[in-house]
Amino acid sequence: MAYLSCNLLYKGLNLDMPLLCLLEGYGLSEQQQYIYFDHAATSWPKPEAVIQAVTHALVHDSANPGRGSHAMAVRASRVLFNGRKQLAKLFGIKNPNDIAFTYNTTMALNMAIKGFVKSGDHVIATSVEHNSVRRPLYELEENNNVEVTYIDADEEGHIDMTHLKQSFKENTTLIVVNHSSNLLGTIMPLEEISEIAHKQGVKVLVDGAQSAGIIPIDVEAMGIDMLAFPGHKGLLGPQGTGGLYIAPDIDLKPLLHGGTGSQSEAAYQPLVRPDRYEAGTQNTAGIAGLTEGVKHVLAIGVEQIYAQEWELAQQLLKGLQEIEGVQCLGPQLGEPRTAIVAFNIPHIDPSELSFILDQHYNIAVRAGFHCTPTAHQVAGTTERGAVRASIGYGTTKEQVDVFIGAVAEIIAQYG
Ligand code: ALA
Repeated sequence: MAYLSCNLLYKGLNLDMPLLCLLEGYGLSEQQQYIYFDHAATSWPKPEAVIQAVTHALVHDSANPGRGSHAMAVRASRVLFNGRKQLAKLFGIKNPNDIAFTYNTTMALNMAIKGFVKSGDHVIATSVEHNSVRRPLYELEENNNVEVTYIDADEEGHIDMTHLKQSFKENTTLIVVNHSSNLLGTIMPLEEISEIAHKQGVKVLVDGAQSAGIIPIDVEAMGIDMLAFPGHKGLLGPQGTGGLYIAPDIDLKPLLHGGTGSQSEAAYQPLVRPDRYEAGTQNTAGIAGLTEGVKHVLAIGVEQIYAQEWELAQQLLKGLQEIEGVQCLGPQLGEPRTAIVAFNIPHIDPSELSFILDQHYNIAVRAGFHCTPTAHQVAGTTERGAVRASIGYGTTKEQVDVFIGAVAEIIAQYG
């Protein structure tokens, strides 16, 4: 409780007493008193089974997967195989070998974009993409004779479907789109987008950073040709895990070339999947943890996770909107969204608000531009950025109430 006893004087604000009343009034345990609202960056805490699996793999299965045929190497290979199987089940993927493990979504998106797009191609993306899409595309625009069109979006993050339909060119080969914005929480109409794209013979790459394990995904039913996903967010795994699903009819140029433990005599990268896209030793212990995270998600059910997080997001949005002066970003109350609520309050910079929430209230949020400057442009928050509260399946209604109370208190004391 040491962190609660400090008396923070912030620009003349004395916020010590109200904090203690707020937390004790809700009867929260000490662990619950740490309010972690940064799930969009990395989920926390991880299920116990995830932690146990990482430890178990480090102790028992930590030989090199796919190299060697001794017992521990075989067990390590099985860890990867089991992980792929669970992920395939979660995303409706027929062949688990169409999933390549990566270290995060950024790596998966780089593999997909740089491996698919060729010089002279035209690519369509949206104006609410993360830098992990925008930067590889910019790199190709600058150095590889690639042209990119960014589809307009309204201030809540809904893309302009007319603009999308009008943007195809003869040389359009790929659409890159997030499933849900990491700033606004807006959910993209993926089925509609892929239907339009496929009619034009264009492939669809989905950035599932904010949706994997949070919104139901079925790659075949949704027409997803490539899906980049993180292990450390909605799938509840450790950082340093993630993956890319690549439809069987797509042959990506590998981003990495190197050892795979297969066809060692060949100088070229093997064609067989997943080896083609998994050069180098994989993160066996991390994948063991990720596998348990996916099992946890499957056991609860993604529909249930979405429904519960949506309810909490509505509570948060409603509570914040009722405080005079708070401006929330993203879809309106009652609309579909992921559990991300970014907002601003008058007279106080987002990074200062985040600092007060952290230092005084023991609440973790992310402030700034969230690696998505164009989404901030869309939302009209280019000048200051915003504070983003992102909640998870383990978040409680009481924690949301405490959060709303903290914001109200800061505004009241500041004004
Ligand atoms: N992309 C992550 C976020 O939105 C890190 O915070």
